[in-house]
Amino acid sequence: MARMKSGKLSGAGFSTAVEARVFSSNSDGMETALIIGASGGIGSALREHLQARGITVRCLSRSVHGFDLTRPDVAEPMLAALAGPFDLIIVASGALEIAGAGPEKSMRAVTAQAMMDQFALNAVGPALVLKHAQRLLPRDRRSVIAVLSARVGSIGDNRLGGWVSYRAAKAAVNQIAHTAAIELKRTHKQALCVALHPGTVKTAFTEKYLGRHPAVAPEEAAANLLAVLNGLHPADTGGFFDWAGQPVPW
Ligand SMILES: NC(=O)c1ccc[n+]([C@@H]2O[C@H](COP(=O)([O-])OP(=O)(O)OC[C@H]3O[C@@H](n4cnc5c(N)ncnc54)[C@H](OP(=O)(O)O)[C@@H]3O)[C@@H](O)[C@H]2O)c1
Repeated sequence: MARMKSGKLSGAGFSTAVEARVFSSNSDGMETALIIGASGGIGSALREHLQARGITVRCLSRSVHGFDLTRPDVAEPMLAALAGPFDLIIVASGALEIAGAGPEKSMRAVTAQAMMDQFALNAVGPALVLKHAQRLLPRDRRSVIAVLSARVGSIGDNRLGGWVSYRAAKAAVNQIAHTAAIELKRTHKQALCVALHPGTVKTAFTEKYLGRHPAVAPEEAAANLLAVLNGLHPADTGGFFDWAGQPVPW
């Protein structure tokens, strides 16, 4: 799939009808959404976009609701208490720097604690949400559950090295989302479960690491991601897509 100069999405996986859809109106019949990590830069932009379209958005986040994904004793009961169905669920939580440990420059910088912290938040956390996909997604219509991953989680695309723990946790969450998609397809024929790379986005997450790297505003990233999700077909389930709808190599 390629992004055309007009800003519309084109290519395999996007039908002409879908290309014509614009995400300024609720043209897809979506009524309810759940955003995990709704307090974050991308999460809050997603919430605003969806609410502007008249969609009822249920939000869960650590700073507002005490929803800490690295505390299963806290997160699991809160997830179990959610009542669906949700047409769209997005896991927008995550961190690059945890407890003062930033991304490693080399293998020598790896510590067991920093790596386990990365896995706890960026891999195990989304898995705890995906556990509830079958229960929270409707069976009788199209629905989507998406996890914000990162292109640096791609093994095939890794030419620079470094960032070992974050990369590995995102590679793990890609496998988790792919596995969940296989299971979900058995009961929810119209459902999609995908991993997404949002692009490089100006949020608290990237503040210290952007340098001169070009980055988009969270609002633009949210619009891109929602357009990609809107254009996916059930056959795309289990995939890893970037902000332009292009498949990312595993
Ligand atoms: N920004 C980028 O350029 C970029 C690029 C590639 C991938 N991504 C991915 O996109 C996702 C969102 O990134 P962002 O830029 O929006 O980051 P952000 O602005 O820093 O937001 C991070 C979100 O994660 C939540 N979070 C952090 N630790 C948590 C915990 N222990 N339990 C529950 N929630 C927790 C934060 O909650 P509180 O603030 O409420 O504590 C916040 O809602 C992440 O998965 C990231 O890896 C971002």
